[in-house]
Amino acid sequence: MLILGIESSCDECSAAVVDDGKTILSNEIATQIDIHKPYEGVVPEIASRTHTEWISGVVRKALEDSDKTIADIDGIAVTNRPGLIGSLMVGLSFAKGLSLASGKPFIGIDHIMAHLYAAQLERDIEYPFLGLLVSGGHTIISIVRDFDDIEVLGTTIDDACGEAYDKVAKHYGFGYPGGQLIDRLAAKGDPRAFNFPDPSLHKGEHRYDVSYSGLKTAVINQLDQFHVEGYEKSPENIAASFQKAAINMLTKRLFKAVADTGINRVVAGGGVAANSYLRESLENKKNIDIYFPSMELCTDNAAMIAGIGYHYLKRGDRSSLDVTAGSRVAGFRKKYP
Ligand code: KG4
Ligand code: ZN
Repeated sequence: MLILGIESSCDECSAAVVDDGKTILSNEIATQIDIHKPYEGVVPEIASRTHTEWISGVVRKALEDSDKTIADIDGIAVTNRPGLIGSLMVGLSFAKGLSLASGKPFIGIDHIMAHLYAAQLERDIEYPFLGLLVSGGHTIISIVRDFDDIEVLGTTIDDACGEAYDKVAKHYGFGYPGGQLIDRLAAKGDPRAFNFPDPSLHKGEHRYDVSYSGLKTAVINQLDQFHVEGYEKSPENIAASFQKAAINMLTKRLFKAVADTGINRVVAGGGVAANSYLRESLENKKNIDIYFPSMELCTDNAAMIAGIGYHYLKRGDRSSLDVTAGSRVAGFRKKYP
């Protein structure tokens, strides 16, 4: 089955053709990074307008690169949640129009589930596994029992991990987007230069939950001290110390989840899964079987949407033309053991 995937939930405008949920025939990703750079963050209104300009060209290119036409396609999979509503609506409306015109079925896909599917485009991974989803919008530790069966163990109680990276980078003037830049700076810094603690969680919050707001504030307050005391600021040391605290917070919870559930297969996904310290920490950990998607499949892309979409469409699942875009994740089971 050939599935055309469409992804426009944030600032990447992407389309892909994937065969049987596995073989990527094309994966066109047009990023708006340069457009949002002057604002040091994604401006939702500009993002959706840009998607409107780009979407038909991106879809056409994905079909051309795969040497297919819409007549060859068996179904269309499109992200319809979660994300920026205006941006999601562009991809979703385009997919509906294409479905209506071509008579091909379409299905709305949850972006988070797709991130956790991404690694499977490159190798076979047996269920169940622990899913570590770390992106600009979400931080979720889960048990994944099937492509559509995700049980959440822990989430962030405030900022997402990637969001903390982006905010720290913005405050220090490191540039945009922050995650990759901090990762690069950190490689040249001393992670022991500053001691940014893992804020212990309040009573009632779950032990697999994380919190990035306290860490972000501590790192930002450090800059104010530089101003007051006139210290020479060391971007590399700040980056390395922040990164160590941000990633260790995550891996500490994950290792606990591995111990508690007895599941040692771990699949990562989302933009922060591209982080070198996270990759190193998990790849060097004994007793864990870790799967990272390649860099291009960590950040937003339509191949993961087409990949997971195949499984829904093969089962006969379809979305109707009145399906809408949603800003939140849906369909997860929540269980706090
Ligand atoms: O999955 P993604 O492309 O979009 C969302 O669904 O949010 O993730 C983007 C996030 C941004 O916050 C970005 O700063 C972060 O992923 N990111 C990284 C790295 N590369 C991207 N964070 C840490 N280290 C990286 N190497
Ligand atoms: Zn994403």
